[in-house]
Amino acid sequence: MASSALSAAIILAAGEGTRMKSSKPKVLHTFAGKTFLNRVMDSVAALNPGTLAVVVRFQGERVAEAARSYNEHVIVIEQDDKPGTGRAVQCAMEQLSANGELTGSVLIAASDMPLLDAETLGALLEFHNNSGNGATVLTTVLDDPTGYGRIIRDSEGNVLRIVEQKDANSSELAVHEVNTSVYVFDAAVLSKAIKGLNSNNAQGEFYLTDALETAKRESAVGAFAAPDPLSVEGVNDRVQLAALARAHNLRVCEHWMREGVDILDPQTTWIEDDVIIGRDAVILPGSFLQGHTVIGENAVVGPYTTLIGATIDAEAHVERSRVQETHIGRAANIGPWTYLRPGNELGEGSKAGAFVEMKKAHIGNGTKVPHLSYVGDADLGEHTNIGGGTITANYDGVHKHHTTIGSNVHVGAGNLFVAPVTVGDGVTTGAGSVVRHDVPSDSMVYSENTQHVVEGWKPEWER
Ligand code: UD1
Ligand code: CA
Repeated sequence: MASSALSAAIILAAGEGTRMKSSKPKVLHTFAGKTFLNRVMDSVAALNPGTLAVVVRFQGERVAEAARSYNEHVIVIEQDDKPGTGRAVQCAMEQLSANGELTGSVLIAASDMPLLDAETLGALLEFHNNSGNGATVLTTVLDDPTGYGRIIRDSEGNVLRIVEQKDANSSELAVHEVNTSVYVFDAAVLSKAIKGLNSNNAQGEFYLTDALETAKRESAVGAFAAPDPLSVEGVNDRVQLAALARAHNLRVCEHWMREGVDILDPQTTWIEDDVIIGRDAVILPGSFLQGHTVIGENAVVGPYTTLIGATIDAEAHVERSRVQETHIGRAANIGPWTYLRPGNELGEGSKAGAFVEMKKAHIGNGTKVPHLSYVGDADLGEHTNIGGGTITANYDGVHKHHTTIGSNVHVGAGNLFVAPVTVGDGVTTGAGSVVRHDVPSDSMVYSENTQHVVEGWKPEWER
């Protein structure tokens, strides 16, 4: 293996994340729909390391399970009860060298950096390989460096060491160049550099940052500045999380605006990374576009709409609604106050109006369900109209059953379809029908529903 190859990557995920004040480990918090851990794993895996290791300890089983279920090639390493980033790497290197000394380069990354991307990591690796350094730290310059380890250089600009905020003197605190907690080491240099780490510092932890100074005894040590400061920002508490999420979301919104999408208010429009939006689509305030949502050209979404893995074809309108894993056809009209649960297919020019709920419903072209209805486990043909307050009774308490309604059917108001039931094409149903048995095409169906009038009746308390 050439010495420039990335033989291993070590993701540090053993910390508790005390400053999040959470019952779950920090790295399992989500950022734009994906956990910090999974985001960093994706970026690191894109560099094709020989081994991808994740170090765990706090709620270790939970973090290990999250890592393994996301990427089956990951190797989980348990940190022992000695604290600190340096100890995490000691534990990792011990295991990674168990079957013989590691050669080549080793990438180390903290996992509390949700925007760490493969391009930045690739640029760091390339810089490291070209520099001939034994160790390269990824740095950035921040207006407010509070909380970060500072990069201390000599008068010629050579990197001397990293000083943690809590151990820094006033002149060190004045430095704005910070450690991002991402490094590339030559494996042999790393093994030696972490041997002598101690915990004689303000936090009583084994600092990985100290390994940079010891690495200098073995080889040259350098720094590479991340081209985009946002990509390397760490999240230690929920205030930083919210600020970073907002900054990232604004970039995503700006990206789509530059692609020809109208976004009225980027401050209240939240768009996750995997969303795709067509030209001249309009996204109104208070909209959350999540998962693999795809929005066609000239579609109008919002205000106050949540789309989760939805496909909205061109010209469709979705207002004040929640739509999950549903395909909405061209020029369809959804909302306001419509709840489309997973598995619906709505045809071109179809409608699901106010207070309509659907689940696994297939609605043909031009079919309308305008008011106050539940349509679940059902197939509706084309150009059928469903009267207000109609319900498909799909559940008998044990099993779900299917309702089939043909094309050009006129369903009266307040109908109840007791599934399993099939209604043919061209049928008309009377208001308040309870349809328990199949109805042939081109017929009319109504159910007896006798009206009784009791004249002069009064409630007991009035008598
Ligand atoms: C660390 C760096 C600091 C840098 C900052 C960037 C050290 C000593 N300090 O500080 O120089 O500016 O990141 O964000 O490295 N972790 C373990 N095991 C542990 C402790 C932590 O695996 O025992 C993991 C955490 O899960 C986290 C990462 O290491 O992913 C960094 O830990 P954190 O406590 O956030 O370090 P910082 O104080 O931010
Ligand atoms: Ca951190």
